[in-house]
Amino acid sequence: NEGALWGGRFASGPSAALEALSRSTHFDWRLALYDIRGSHAHATALEAAGYLSADDAAAMHAGLDRLAEKVRSGELSPRPGDEDVHGALEQMLLDEVGSELGGRLRAGRSRNDQIATFVRMYLLDHASVIAREVLQLVDALVAQAEANAAAILPGRTHLQHAQPVLLAHHLQAHAWPLVRDLERLRDWRVRAGVSPYGGGALAGSTLGLDPALVAQELGLDRPAENSMDATAARDVVAEFAFIAAQIGIDISRLAEEIIVWNTREFDFVTLDDGYSTGSSIMPQKKNPDIAELARGKAGRLIGNLTGLLATLKALPLAYNRDLQEDKEPIFDSVDTLEVVLPAFTGMIQTLVFHTERMAAQAPEGFSLATDVAEWLVKQGVPFRDAHEISGSLVRACEERGIGLEDADDALLASVSDHLTPGVRSVLSIEGSVASRAGAGGTAPDRVAEQRAELIERAQQA
Ligand code: ARG
Repeated sequence: NEGALWGGRFASGPSAALEALSRSTHFDWRLALYDIRGSHAHATALEAAGYLSADDAAAMHAGLDRLAEKVRSGELSPRPGDEDVHGALEQMLLDEVGSELGGRLRAGRSRNDQIATFVRMYLLDHASVIAREVLQLVDALVAQAEANAAAILPGRTHLQHAQPVLLAHHLQAHAWPLVRDLERLRDWRVRAGVSPYGGGALAGSTLGLDPALVAQELGLDRPAENSMDATAARDVVAEFAFIAAQIGIDISRLAEEIIVWNTREFDFVTLDDGYSTGSSIMPQKKNPDIAELARGKAGRLIGNLTGLLATLKALPLAYNRDLQEDKEPIFDSVDTLEVVLPAFTGMIQTLVFHTERMAAQAPEGFSLATDVAEWLVKQGVPFRDAHEISGSLVRACEERGIGLEDADDALLASVSDHLTPGVRSVLSIEGSVASRAGAGGTAPDRVAEQRAELIERAQQA
């Protein structure tokens, strides 16, 4: 077992079954370049503490650079005997700079503090990619809101017609949670930017290496306060998994609406050909697969989070091998979002809204009944009575198979003396939308102001 990082105290090598279980190179190799950056920083710390001469340190850095180049080009990849990315890279370094120099690098560090650091570095990089992609989705929603600024949509609660709203208000209501996700990622960075490197296996090292120097070299904000916490904690990883799941869930809610809007019954949108799929048997089909995949993948993002939390539950301090199980779920969450977000954004950018049909549906289902009640309040009627009167008018119209706007003077008066013809001033969807002019309301001016605020918040995050 020549390539292993341990073995001195073992009389025999590992069984094949153990090797098969223990091996992680098939998923942790994606951290190889972070591992090499960690080695550069560690070599610098060893030199600063007097364990590497300047010449040795220079030879080490040069060797690590050559290693990185070979990893990047694919010339080097793990061999079957390698247990993990750390062991594989140590072997490769020994080949590169010789065992005398290469054998000095492991002093004062452990795979436990290394891996805890690399996962953070990896997630910090991918958090930037994901944040950029979420911002592009927010931009796409804002652009659609702007392009359809006057369009009216039947607003729903319980999926039933409730009150007319601006389509822009609705689209922006989907953008705000994504802005909060961007803010979550920004807040998370404060905790993720802490370096476990220097924690050693759990207790630190006797060599007087400077963890702050390593943190600085790695572009992290500061070293961890506690070496045991540094190597054993994965709350920062779980928090990332939560944010990823929340992004997936936020997208899934919009996805569900697009799927519904795209049905023949709703017919509110047309999907671009480039962002929809066909059927292998039904020639006429054009399916919203992107939205369905986004909805479905929200499930696996939740699974990754819950799986990771289950791994962490009741795990004693400090490092346990269970912690190796943090990587596959989090890698999968990153991969999932990085493939879902661009497709989803493209679908939103190219979505065509059938604004006339939406507007025509908006007054249906007596969606202006609240406007009638609030008009009565403005005439001095207590809301409790106004609600009753408006409800009676709905019933009277429903019995006659007409809309509120079709009620004649006699019908209005038969329901209540308070229902004078003046009530018709609020019986238009445009009037209804425009009159909801309080802060956060759906009136066009408010929605435009809100959009400006949304863009600003998204860019700050
Ligand atoms: N591969 C492990 C992980 O991903 C790191 C190695 C720690 N192994 C050990 N025996 N302490 O967590």
